Amino acid sequence: MFSAFYELSHYNQASLFVGACLRDQANASATSTIGCDDALACKKREPDLKRMDMGCTLTGSGKALPQLAVTNDDLAKIVDTSDEWIVERTGIHERHIAVEETSTDLAALAGKRAMDAAGLQPDEVDLLICMTITPDSVVPSEACLVKARLGLERAVAFDLNAACAGCVYGMEVAASMMEASALSRLGASSPLRISQGNAIKHALVIGVDRLSRITDWTDRTTCVLFGDGAGAVVLSWDDEAPGILSSFLENTDDPTLALACDQLRDLSTFPFADISQDDVCQIMAASLDEALPELERPRRASISMQGQKIFKWASKAMADAVMKACERADVPLDEVSLIVPHQANERIIRFSAKKLKFPVERMQISIGSVGNTSASSVLMALADAYAEGRIEGGDKVVLVGFGGGLTLGSLLFVA
Ligand code: ACO
Repeated sequence: MFSAFYELSHYNQASLFVGACLRDQANASATSTIGCDDALACKKREPDLKRMDMGCTLTGSGKALPQLAVTNDDLAKIVDTSDEWIVERTGIHERHIAVEETSTDLAALAGKRAMDAAGLQPDEVDLLICMTITPDSVVPSEACLVKARLGLERAVAFDLNAACAGCVYGMEVAASMMEASALSRLGASSPLRISQGNAIKHALVIGVDRLSRITDWTDRTTCVLFGDGAGAVVLSWDDEAPGILSSFLENTDDPTLALACDQLRDLSTFPFADISQDDVCQIMAASLDEALPELERPRRASISMQGQKIFKWASKAMADAVMKACERADVPLDEVSLIVPHQANERIIRFSAKKLKFPVERMQISIGSVGNTSASSVLMALADAYAEGRIEGGDKVVLVGFGGGLTLGSLLFVA
């Protein structure tokens, strides 16, 4: 269940294991994973713990958009495109572009809205994770900047890069830390030693991206797709409700760099060799595959994409990920009230719905007014779904994201 998970975190694997163990019990899910057998062992040894009723619940949601809305007609004045082409191929009508707003401005506003919705005070937040590929600075991390802005005095804060699937990865990391914390707080016994870490009851998870800063505005194949924004969610431990039931994370290698963005570094003072930006690209490529000399690699700090390749992979991957989350929670797909997918292309969403034989009316489609906002996308769409009254208490909801890496993730929760 957490095989891909270990690769992206630094936690003690035992903590993750017991987190998984606790969630497996909460789900009462009879999968054949290693966590399940030991979860049953835990249950026998702690018969009084009502773990089936406990979990990590979503208690608040929010989003923030920059002021400037840019229409397709506006873009047609910059590159050779048209409103008709963009709408037909993507479903996008306009997107918001941050001119004055920083990533920190957007993230803090979305985070504050989610905290307000959850009725959470700044000094109650134990953990802040920011998912982003466009932080305002590398150090301090985006999460550290937002923590300071929001006055989250006791929160531990760090960034996570899983591109457009960031939302699911970030929530999964937060949920697992909370589960491990709950297990040690509740004093549950386990076949593994439970490491004593930070007590985490409330987490703020924010996706923020200003893709406008890594977009080549002369490239019509990419610049019409992207927008800026932030989405946020508060996760709170609940002793009475199960919340998140299951998740699925998967990484697929991307040896031809179908989706890539280079990172420019100032190497002008590097004294050991004459290293250029191209060398950095080669290092990146060499680690992937020997066949790469033929590859056309990105040489600038802007997104390059083989659109059709990503389209084909994503359409199938998204449907597969939804099914994995359902299977792991032992929830039939028809019990799912709403799927909130990554908003990369309306056609991808519709294709996935068709593949799943799931009514497209029960897919959240928010892309029209925002475009693809990367790590913010699923959380912004989730905020829309709550605002539109599409999610009620007790509903089963699946979040699903995919993106560069290639990263893929889904998560099923009970509202
Ligand atoms: N306006 C007008 N024409 C265009 C534009 C444009 N903006 N962009 C491309 N075209 C042209 C192409 O040049 C091509 O012309 P040709 O037939 O003369 O060669 C024609 O339109 C068709 O191009 P395709 O690339 O085949 O168009 P497609 O239907 O595949 O749509 C798109 C392109 C929208 C990019 C689609 O492939 C897609 O959505 N891919 C997935 C994107 C995605 O999901 N990205 C992942 C996440 S991004 C992230 O993680 C940051």
